[in-house]
This record gives sequence, C-alpha cells and structure tokens, in this order.
Amino acid sequence: MKILVINGPNLNMLGLREPAIYGRETYQDLLAFIAQTAAEEGVEADCFQSNHEGALVDRIQEAYGVYDGIVINPGAYTHTSIALLDAVKAVSIPTVEVHLSDVTKREDFRQVSYIRLACVKTFMGMGFAGYREGIRYLKALRKNETT
Ligand code: DQA
Repeated sequence: MKILVINGPNLNMLGLREPAIYGRETYQDLLAFIAQTAAEEGVEADCFQSNHEGALVDRIQEAYGVYDGIVINPGAYTHTSIALLDAVKAVSIPTVEVHLSDVTKREDFRQVSYIRLACVKTFMGMGFAGYREGIRYLKALRKNETT
C-alpha cells in the first residue's frame, strides 16, 4: 500500500512556529515519525510539503494511479482552498484530513474546512499522532474494501 502524506504552508516551520500551539518538534522530526509509522504499519509513505497552493494541487493530481491513500494537512489552505478540495475530488483517492492542533477550539476563521468535504476522516488536536491515525485509518479502509 502506498500513501502520500502532504503538508501545506508553514508546516516546514514546525519547531519554530508558535511552539505553544504546534510544539517544539521540527518538520524533520515529523518526517522521521512518518517513516517510522510507515515501517511499523507495513506501508510505503512518501512525504511532500509546499507553501504554494498550485504545487499542492499538482502533487494531488500526480498521485492519481500511484497512491492508494492520501493524508493531508493543508495548513491554512484548509480554510480557503476550493482548488485543493476539487483536486482531491478529481483523483478520488481516499483522503484523511489531519491537523496538529484542535481547530475547533481556535478562531472562527478556522471553523470552515473545504477539504473535509472530500475526506473520509479527520484527526485533529493529536499532534504528530494524528498522522499515524490517518495512515492506520487508510490501511483499515483498504483492508475492508478488499475483503
Ligand atoms: C493546522 C491548523 C490550521 O488552521 C493552520 O493554518 C495551520 C496548521 C494544524 O495542523 O493544526 O497551518 O492545519
């Protein structure tokens, strides 16, 4: 099983960025966490991060026919991007939305998620563990679909 993990804008700044909200671990630490999780779960996981909406759309389109699942933390594009929503709908690859923080407890402008409309599940407020839950969820979903 091949999973693509996509991180949007400012997630490359983890560790430096608002540590009270996002913690002190870096994006490199997140990559290591995902690699370890993938090994434990017996799946292949590739990671991609961009600060550019179009680059994220391109990567989702390129996933078609290659990946069996997507775990995506679109960062602030969660709350603004119909283009990302449409990209996920276009490829119709099972996609899980992840947020490090619990966006339901934050500002009003974070209460909208466009991407959620195309996602099979959302994990939030769990830090890095949300990505692991996303990978596990996609794995279980695939198992149910193929048995
Ligand atoms: C985030 C939450 C978003 O509202 C914010 O813009 C981010 C990170 C999270 O992981 O908690 O960049 O997606």
